[in-house]
Amino acid sequence: MTKHALKNIPNHVAIIMDGNGRWANVRGLPRSMGHRKGVEAVREAVRTAAEAGIGYLTLFAFSSENWSRPESEVTDLMGLLKTFIRRDLETLHGENVRIRIIGDRSNLRSDILPLLLEAEERTRGNTSIQLVIAFNYGSRDEIARAVRSIAGDVAAGQIHPADVTPELISARLDTAGIPDPDLIIRTSGEERLSNFLLWQAAYAELMFIPDFWPDFSRASFLDALAKFAGRERRFGGVRTPTLAVGS
Ligand code: FPP
Repeated sequence: MTKHALKNIPNHVAIIMDGNGRWANVRGLPRSMGHRKGVEAVREAVRTAAEAGIGYLTLFAFSSENWSRPESEVTDLMGLLKTFIRRDLETLHGENVRIRIIGDRSNLRSDILPLLLEAEERTRGNTSIQLVIAFNYGSRDEIARAVRSIAGDVAAGQIHPADVTPELISARLDTAGIPDPDLIIRTSGEERLSNFLLWQAAYAELMFIPDFWPDFSRASFLDALAKFAGRERRFGGVRTPTLAVGS
């Protein structure tokens, strides 16, 4: 893949891919068509991110709350994810992409878990972009699982309560070893995080884009990256003066 000479590229971009249903509605199509077009936008986003030199791209594919959708839609989304992994795994592997999955794996169906594990295992040694797929993911659930694991170690006397630091908590989350996102994009004009990477988002730049996800193109992504490059990040500090005043 050709890399692009873009300035100030975020190391980690996370995307809430919203608006598949509305994309379909405005065209008088079934919601399932919106999700299908959404998968095409996923392919384009991964390609664009890799070309731009982004290190990690996290995509919110299925939330722990999405199980409450009609059964036919849940089945459809599962089917799309399975097809994506079956069809695209070899291409992604060939492009040196490492796939990682975040979310609760404990109760996943036997037709999906082995596929996810295979995608992770097969691409484990890859060193280009890391594609992190959030599946059956909810941030509060992730934090609760991390807290339970730490509480277990404290109860067993393996960790002293004073050693429970932000770093330890980060290391127990599903995203252990993955740097916090620098930029979180949500498409479709909704302006909320919807239980996505709440802990990790502490200093992320947030960007809300009016396009529905299926319309999120390479140009939309590059435009978001250009806007990110113009943002000033202070991480709780103060602005660094570039001019000496009054001297
Ligand atoms: C939000 O649109 C989108 C989703 C709940 C699922 C996103 C999934 C995909 C793009 C396909 C599978 C993913 C991968 C990684 C291959 P919505 O249905 O909430 O839209 P609406 O808010 O307009 O109803």
